[in-house]
Amino acid sequence: MVRRSVVAGCGAYLPDRVVTNEELVQRVDTTDEWIVQRTGIKTRHIAGDDQKTSDLAIAAARQALEHAGMNASELDLVVLATATPDHTFPSTATTVQAALGMTRGAAFDVQAVCSGFVYAMNVADNFVRLGQAKNVLVIGAETFSRILDWEDRTTCVLFGDGAGAVVLLGQDASGDSSDRGVLANCLHSDGRHHDLLYVDGGPSATQTVGHLRMEGPEVFKHAVKNLSSVVGEALEIAGLHTDDVDWLVPHQANKRIISSTARKLRVSEEKIVMTVERHANTSAASIPLALNDAVRDGRINTGDVLVLEAMGGGFTWGASVVRW
Ligand code: UT7
Repeated sequence: MVRRSVVAGCGAYLPDRVVTNEELVQRVDTTDEWIVQRTGIKTRHIAGDDQKTSDLAIAAARQALEHAGMNASELDLVVLATATPDHTFPSTATTVQAALGMTRGAAFDVQAVCSGFVYAMNVADNFVRLGQAKNVLVIGAETFSRILDWEDRTTCVLFGDGAGAVVLLGQDASGDSSDRGVLANCLHSDGRHHDLLYVDGGPSATQTVGHLRMEGPEVFKHAVKNLSSVVGEALEIAGLHTDDVDWLVPHQANKRIISSTARKLRVSEEKIVMTVERHANTSAASIPLALNDAVRDGRINTGDVLVLEAMGGGFTWGASVVRW
C-alpha cells in the first residue's frame, strides 16, 4: 500500500486584456508572421495595472477548489510556483492562503521559473506520499508582463500573464502504474546556464526588479534535448512507455519546441495539449492553464495518462506522470 496524490480538481484564470501580435507591431520592430512562424503565438493575456500575481492565483485557486467540491479549510498545504511574486517577501502563497480563509497548515512559494509547476507538483506529491499533508493546493501564477523589457523584440512578444491550479488529495493505492494520481516525478537543474535565461535585477544583486534576458536559440537547443530525456526518465520511474501516454501537457514556450519534443518521444500531435497560440508563455502557469483547458473541454478523462514537462531558467527542467 502506498499514498498517491490524486487530482481532485483544477482551475485557471486569465486576465481580461488580450494583446494581439498586431498590437505589438505598434511597439517593436516585429511582424505577426514572424511571431506565428517562430513561436506559434497569436495572442496573450496581460494583467491590469491593479492585478497582482496573487489576484490571478486566488481566482484560479477558487475555481480549482470548487471543481474539487472542497473548502479551503480542508487544505493542509498551499504550494505556489512563481518567478514574479507580489513582493520580495512574504511569499505569494501566504497571501493566497489568507484570501482563501485558510488559517491552518502551511503555504510557501517554489521558484523554478518556467519549470515551477512541475517542481511544485513534485514537492506537493512528496508531502502527500510522506503523510505530512493530505489535501494540497498547487498553483502556478505569473505576471511576466512586469519583468519584460517592452522595447526588446526578442523577448517581449513571447510571454503572457495567467494562473492555474490543481487540488491534490492523498489516497491509499496499490503502488502500481494502474493507480490514479501522480505516478512519478523527475527534476533536474544545471546552474551553469544562468546567463542564457535570467532577470538582470533582484533585491540582493541590484535592489531593482529587473528585466528578463534570454539567448533564445541556445535555450531552444537545450529545451528539446532535456525535455525528451526527462520525460523518458519519468515514464521509466512510473513503469510506463510513451505508447501509454494519452496526453502530453507541456510547458507552453514555443510550438516548435513542443512539436520537436513530441516527435523525439514519438508522441503524435493529436495527443499534445497546445495553448501557446492563445496564452503565449506564462511560465509556471502554462501547464495548469493547458491542463484546465483540456479537462474543461472533455479531452482529459478519468484514467488517462498525462505527462507534464517543462524547462526554464536556471536551467531547471522536469516531468511528472499523472494518471487522471
Ligand atoms: O520558457 C522558458 C524557456 N524559453 C524558451 O523555451 C524559449 C526558447 N527559444 C525560442 O523559443 C526561440 O529561440 C525564439 C522564439 C526566442 C527565437 O526564435 P529563433 O528561430 O531561435 O530566432 P532567432 O533568435 O535565431 O532570430 C532569428 C532572427 C534574428 O535576425 P537575424 O540575426 O537573422 O537578422 C533576430 O534578430 O529574427 C530576429 N528576431 C525578430 N524578428 C522579428 C528576433 N525577434 C524578432 C521579432 N520579430 N520579435
